[in-house]
Amino acid sequence: MKSTKKLKPIAAIVGAGRTKFGELWYKNPEELLTEAGIKAMESVDYGLRRKDIQACYFGSFLYQVTNKLALLPGYMARELGMNIPMSNTEAACGSGGSALYNACHGIRAGVYDVVLVGGFEKMTDRSEKILDDLMFAGDSHEFDAGYTFAGLYASMMARYIHDYGDADGGVKCREALAFVTCKNHHHAIGNKYAQFRRDFTVDDVLNSPLVADPIRMLHCSPVSDGAVALVVVSPEVARKYTDTPIYVVGSQQATDDVSISSRESLTGIKATRLATEQVLKRTNMTMRDIQIAEVHDCFTIEETFFLEDSGFCKKGEGWKIIHDSYESFKGSKSKHIPYVNGDKEMVVNPGGGLKADGHPVGATGVRQVYECFKQLRTEAGENQVDKEGLNVALSHNIGGTGGIATVHILMKE
Ligand code: COA
Repeated sequence: MKSTKKLKPIAAIVGAGRTKFGELWYKNPEELLTEAGIKAMESVDYGLRRKDIQACYFGSFLYQVTNKLALLPGYMARELGMNIPMSNTEAACGSGGSALYNACHGIRAGVYDVVLVGGFEKMTDRSEKILDDLMFAGDSHEFDAGYTFAGLYASMMARYIHDYGDADGGVKCREALAFVTCKNHHHAIGNKYAQFRRDFTVDDVLNSPLVADPIRMLHCSPVSDGAVALVVVSPEVARKYTDTPIYVVGSQQATDDVSISSRESLTGIKATRLATEQVLKRTNMTMRDIQIAEVHDCFTIEETFFLEDSGFCKKGEGWKIIHDSYESFKGSKSKHIPYVNGDKEMVVNPGGGLKADGHPVGATGVRQVYECFKQLRTEAGENQVDKEGLNVALSHNIGGTGGIATVHILMKE
């Protein structure tokens, strides 16, 4: 079992709070963020005074467009009754992970000891226009050509099935890509905050309405509202707030061309590969050490890419690993379905992922870390992963179709 003793933690998480995800029409975005922030502060075991917080790092993508507001620090200063430095990071669907990455820098640099990190988005108020709005995170030529995000990922998924799928028209590969949905919806059943808490079968997925061939409705993450917050502190002060801090031992980010047509490959995400390589190197780990991973599954092909980009399995073999899990799951009653590759075993998206927990884009990266935090502290309730010696988790958050990727590794002492 890995231990934090040989690693120098970057930061520690001592509190976490979130709203439910879904259509939350009755609250403004700043109220959602405040609700999550207050829950995070109140969850700190030995108490946290508002005046302890020295700065806030928020992540959000679209609030100027979806809710016609700007100058988030001004809104949050009013809501939280604070006058401290506050910043907002925009990195599309990767905004939340980027906000935490920036907060870790503030702590690592010694500027702050206690900060609040929050991610939020309110998308359903613009449901008519939201698919166009999301294309701010695509290349303008992609938008002009009529692409949506589902369309962009459909190009990647079609290429993947063509290049790596089975000879039989990719039938098994398509089953595997549908099974990602079934697994993540199954994982969300015990998650009281999730947008969807029901099972789907592979047939349900493959017969759901076509969105952009080969992507069907049930391959997609939904349009969601929600907010999540974390109290992040320096490792030196962590014990003042709790006996069970969860340490951030790795925090890395990488970027790539915004446009899929200019990338080196359509069947993988270079930014994920680089960020994961660096974070594993920094922590002296391999994918064998990762026990749970909250992975960016905006479309099911993206979870498959992660298995390959991270080195959990070889290029082109992700769908086979998923298909084996599918076969072994049939008839099983297990709450979580791990991916297994030789001596590597990892539960991916124990909270349901973007697919079932929901995807309020700016909140997602923070929600992933929230889930890892709860799992490592054995506080995930009905949804707790049943694994002896659980102490290493990874979160993977990307923006757009892979223009940015941020990866964190979290550990219990
Ligand atoms: N997964 C599961 N169920 C979904 C769903 C999804 N992604 N999207 C909608 N539903 C459900 C709704 O809850 C609703 O159920 P109900 O009838 O029981 O209330 C039903 O399907 C119809 O919902 P509706 O909102 O009319 O669906 P829609 O056709 O407008 O939208 C998608 C479906 C797939 C097009 C939409 O979810 C989507 O665009 N997702 C992708 C978002 C995106 O691109 N995000 C950025 C990623 S990078």
